[in-house]
Amino acid sequence: MGEKTEKNLAIAFAAESKAAARNLAFGQKAQHDGYEQIARLFRAVADAESVHAQRYLRLMRGKIGSTEENLETAFHNEIRANVDEYPNLIKEATEEGVSAVEKAFSQSRDVESRHAELYKKAMNDMLAERETIYHVCQVCGYIAEDEAPENCPICGAVKGKFNPN
Ligand SMILES: [Fe+2]
Ligand SMILES: [Fe+2]
Repeated sequence: MGEKTEKNLAIAFAAESKAAARNLAFGQKAQHDGYEQIARLFRAVADAESVHAQRYLRLMRGKIGSTEENLETAFHNEIRANVDEYPNLIKEATEEGVSAVEKAFSQSRDVESRHAELYKKAMNDMLAERETIYHVCQVCGYIAEDEAPENCPICGAVKGKFNPN
């Protein structure tokens, strides 16, 4: 594959991933405002953008490995976000006195180490075939195993804010 195409795949992957997230947020807003059909459209387009993003990622060299390798990659990405990326974002939000953003970054940083912990566990359990349900906090992204907690340990959200996977 040529250098330009490789670079363009990375650009298209990032753009489509962003579009998918943005459309989901637009869909939630439409839902909240009572526009059921428009919410459905935003969700459908988000789904489609995500199809594009995944298609590009599969075409990029060396981005998807064996499941064991992918767990390892995912684990390291969480650690990097927790240790290298969020601390500086938190620091700058603090310096500029934007407390809502500081809170969001801080909670995400804490949640990333939880994600890393779950990946580590899954690597160890791969052969044991342990079954569990993951409940995701829709406020901060914390993940609980087996059962959703009464309150999120990171952001305090109530049980009803958790989605099972
Ligand atoms: Fe994460
Ligand atoms: Fe939470």
